Amino acid sequence: PEARTLVLVKPDAVRRGLVGEVLRRIEAKGYTLVAAELRTADPALLEEHYAEHAGKPFFEPLVTFMSSGPVLAAVVAGERVVEGFRSLAGATDPTSAAPGTIRGDLGRDWGRPVTENLVHGSDSDESAAREISLWFPGL
Ligand code: CMP
Repeated sequence: PEARTLVLVKPDAVRRGLVGEVLRRIEAKGYTLVAAELRTADPALLEEHYAEHAGKPFFEPLVTFMSSGPVLAAVVAGERVVEGFRSLAGATDPTSAAPGTIRGDLGRDWGRPVTENLVHGSDSDESAAREISLWFPGL
């Protein structure tokens, strides 16, 4: 069966008008959009979403940043899409992310935390199932 992943186009990317560019890359790769919604997330949802990072120094700035404006939350499907989207996204730090990736082509260090890296993708099938049920209950 096809895998699914949760993609978030983060507030920095939405503010820069990159939603279409990110979706274009996902669709050009041949993945299928199953659901998508633009919304400003509650800190409570983000604290659950990022529960594994609770206590890390970047946790609070991350939740503040992620709730600072709308995100495009999307469920994307396709064979091995979890690792496939992470490959499209590139390394966490946009300065060192490879050219050809979303973060490598479109991201950079703006003198703000590396937290601002344009997109999120689930890191495993288990995370994807958990995150999809959080953002799209019932899907
Ligand atoms: P994401 O894929 O959404 O998962 C966790 C997020 O935490 C990550 O992308 C970054 O936005 C952020 N992050 C990870 N590592 C760091 C770090 N060292 N400093 C600041 N933010 C980080």
